[in-house]
Amino acid sequence: MNGRILIVDDEADMLVLLSRIIKEETRHQVTTENNPKKALSLFKPGIFDLVFLDLKMPGMNGIELLRQIKKIQPDISVVIITAYASIETAVEAVREGAFEYITKPFERERILLTIDKVLQWREMVSENISLREALAEKEASGHLIGSSRRIKILLDQIRQVAPTTATVLITGESGTGKELAARALCQFSLRKDKPFITINCTAISENVIESELFGHVKGAFTGAWKDKKGLVEIADGGTLFLDEIGDLDFAMQTKLLRLLQEGEFKPVGGIRTLKADIRFIAATNHNLESDIQKGVFREDLFYRLNVIRLEMPGLSQRREDIPMLAHHFLKKYALLYAKNIHSISEDTLRTLSSHVFPGNVRELENTIERGVVFCRTHCLEVNDVFAEGNSRGSEAMETEADFLTLPFREARNAVMNRFYRQYIQRLLQNSNGNISRAAETAGIQRQYLHRLINQAGLEPEE
Ligand SMILES: Nc1ncnc2c1ncn2[C@@H]1O[C@H](COP(=O)(O)OP(=O)(O)OP(=O)(O)O)[C@@H](O)[C@H]1O
Ligand SMILES: [Mg+2]
Repeated sequence: MNGRILIVDDEADMLVLLSRIIKEETRHQVTTENNPKKALSLFKPGIFDLVFLDLKMPGMNGIELLRQIKKIQPDISVVIITAYASIETAVEAVREGAFEYITKPFERERILLTIDKVLQWREMVSENISLREALAEKEASGHLIGSSRRIKILLDQIRQVAPTTATVLITGESGTGKELAARALCQFSLRKDKPFITINCTAISENVIESELFGHVKGAFTGAWKDKKGLVEIADGGTLFLDEIGDLDFAMQTKLLRLLQEGEFKPVGGIRTLKADIRFIAATNHNLESDIQKGVFREDLFYRLNVIRLEMPGLSQRREDIPMLAHHFLKKYALLYAKNIHSISEDTLRTLSSHVFPGNVRELENTIERGVVFCRTHCLEVNDVFAEGNSRGSEAMETEADFLTLPFREARNAVMNRFYRQYIQRLLQNSNGNISRAAETAGIQRQYLHRLINQAGLEPEE
């Protein structure tokens, strides 16, 4: 990769020396500037890959210039060069986002190696979209991380059950990896190259779920201007993952039962019955046995689904997996946010391992993601992960506009989390904790509200 390098130093000799080293040994493009203010005015996003900065310059010091150009292009790689070697300035420069720190006098090799390192790093980051996809795929293929006894037993069960066509019911608390397990079941099965179709039974409203699942014929209802295949037909030969099955409305449960029993279904408005060859996997965080007692879940459907039961252990039952998971998520988010963070401090690992995560692996993942966002060194420290302000995106926002300075995803999550918590809290207060009434007031399904309450970590009694 041919890089574009900017060198800023008030000493002309230094500019000459550096650019000569680079030009003699590499094919990178070099621009030099001896006035920091001019350098700033010429700096535009995307025109340089790497900036060498002198630390002491008249008019504006290197750290200040570093801050300014980072504002213009947050992902710019900056290497500080200075004769004033001191650990504090080095740390400060790295804190402000410098990639590295080189002290004068330096060896030719040191400069060339640093350039290589930076450009390689940038190349990796620019491939980050494909890497991200690779990562997503790895996850999609059911990459369950962990080496605890519980996770080993689970993986064994998955391998045993996967090649059969038996229906599997996956249960477990929110965020324990039910969806990941479902994908693993597909990945280890003979149907791995066939469609894997997910239906989220909560997200789809009652009146569209039937046509969504079974399709419809032309003219079945207003707007049905041609035949449309349902997800069941699309999944034919493959796997159908019924996520959040506990939220499926009662009438649909009956229709689903028929599909499970006979392998038959009828498109909405159609007269012909169709057949489908499908492997079913269902997941829920409800206690279906008690839902049956309450009369909201069909017992016969439950027995159809509960042929093989996989129980996902909560994170508290496999604490020893926390370090491994934490490193896995560190890699993922360092890549995603293009940050050069490669380790987690002992202290952080210890704190994480004794922390309670009611939201299980998902919450641990969010915690690490936040840590990566706030981390300003190469190592994830306790303060990055558990600092007062960082702990929850929403509470980190002191004033209305605080989120404006956060990275996009962080900002969106912060605003959304706050919205959910406040909205639901108010809703529950007004209905004295009565969920049915709250759902009615809000104009949403009861089950959906339940899910939101869980996600926001609220109790209906609150
Ligand atoms: N063992 C694991 N290894 C790696 N990542 C995991 C593991 N378990 C869960 N995750 C990650 O945690 C997040 C939540 O997992 P998933 O969506 O499968 O949970 P879930 O049980 O379906 O949760 P919910 O009930 O809230 O839908 C995902 O990002 C997933 O990749
Ligand atoms: Mg899920």
